[in-house]
Parts: sequence; C-alpha cells; structure tokens
Amino acid sequence: MAVTMKSGEIRRYDANERLNHWAVAVLFVLLTASGLAFFHPAFWFLSGLLGGGNWSRILHPFLGVLMFVLFFVMAIRYWDDNKIKPHDREWGKRLSDVISNRDHGLPEIDKYNLGQKYLFWVMVGTMGLLLLSGIIIWRPYFAEAFHIDVIRIAVVIHAVSAFILILGIMAHIYAGVFWVAGSLRAMTRGTVSQAWARQHHALWHRRMSGPK
Ligand code: HEM
Repeated sequence: MAVTMKSGEIRRYDANERLNHWAVAVLFVLLTASGLAFFHPAFWFLSGLLGGGNWSRILHPFLGVLMFVLFFVMAIRYWDDNKIKPHDREWGKRLSDVISNRDHGLPEIDKYNLGQKYLFWVMVGTMGLLLLSGIIIWRPYFAEAFHIDVIRIAVVIHAVSAFILILGIMAHIYAGVFWVAGSLRAMTRGTVSQAWARQHHALWHRRMSGPK
C-alpha cells in the first residue's frame, strides 16, 4: 500500500504510535531517576522528581507496571518489523562502513536496521526481566510470597536489567537524535523525507511507495 503523502514525505508513525512511544519515554525517565535514587545515595536528589523518597518508593513499582504495559503494546506493533533477516546479517558484516557513514553499496534494509533490531530485543528482554524481578521484590504486596534468597537474586536481576536497558536507551537516543539525521521527526511529526527513507531504509521505502 502506498503511503507517500502529498508533500513527498512518507508516514512512519501515526499519532497513536507517537503518543505511545513518548508516554513510555517519560515513564522511563521517571523510573530511571527514582531507581537510581534507590540504588546509590549519590543519586538521592533524583527522588525529588517523583516528590521525594516516600512518593518515589510508592510510585516506582506502579509506574513500572504501566511502562511495561505501554511498552508491550508498542512491542507487539513492531514485533514482525524487528525479526532479523539474512539481509540484516549481510548489513551487519559491513559494520565498519556503517560506522564511517559509507552507505554506498550496503545491502538494502527494511523498516529497521540490525542495530535497531538488536536494541529492540534487548528492550523486550530487559523489560520482561524488570517486570518479573520487580514483582518478586515488591513490598508489601508480593515479596512475602517469596523466599529471601529468591528476593536477593531478583534484586540483582532488577539492577542488572535496568543498567543494560539504560545503556541501550542511551544508544537509542544517540542514534535517533544525533547519528541518523532526520530520524527524530519520524517520532515527532510522524513523517520522514523520501531521501531519508531511500538512504537508510531502501526496502521499506520501496514497499511504502509501491502500487498506488
Ligand atoms: C528521549 C528519549 C527517546 C528518544 C529521543 C527516542 C527517539 C526515537 C526515534 C527517533 C525513533 C524512530 C526511529 C526510526 O523509526 O527509525 C524511536 C523509535 C522507537 N523507540 Fe524511542 N526514543 C526515546 C525513548 C525510548 C524509550 C525509553 C523506549 C523504550 C523503553 C523506546 C523505544 C522505541 C521503540 C521500540 C521504537 C521503534 C523502533 C524499533 O523497534 O527499534 N524509545 N525512538
């Protein structure tokens, strides 16, 4: 189906998708701030974002469940687009060209490139682990049901998953805002230019500008 717009732009995300994404992003910032505040006293000042220590402690788990649910909606939407295909592996073998922005002759890619796809699966894995471990350590509601050793292991899994997700999101922000110029407007205005689509996602571009 052709979705090229009058102005020659291509629709990449509709309003629902963008609202969903930015809601997850805001929750991620609040959860990272409160989570870091619990993790080390050096970050305690960040608890102010949710109204201090007590409110952070109460709200963090509820906001975490909300972020998981909203992320889950987003992940279901993009699941198929993030399945790794043979042309992605070929693209991955040319990583040095990709890093040096030598795009010429790179295998054509679909809606997402291999880096985005790996990151997507890191998000899915860490979100799942954060939810499971978070429920196990959630006092006073669920933690009583688990042995203290299980809770200890869950605390470590929670911290390690959060650390990996935070690093992943830092890379995601860097790539979306600075590295691949023209990507951010996909998530703000919802559209990308024809040139952007042709250069970075040629297969997707062809699919989107297919039979009218
Ligand atoms: C300030 C923070 C963020 C910025 C600036 C940002 C930016 C972007 C941009 C520009 C895109 C479009 C990329 C493209 O279509 O090629 C995107 C897609 C996406 N973002 Fe974010 N993002 C942020 C936070 C997050 C967070 C916290 C999550 C999840 C925990 C997330 C998950 C996703 C997902 C799943 C996609 C769809 C693309 C994919 O499957 O890789 N983003 N983001």
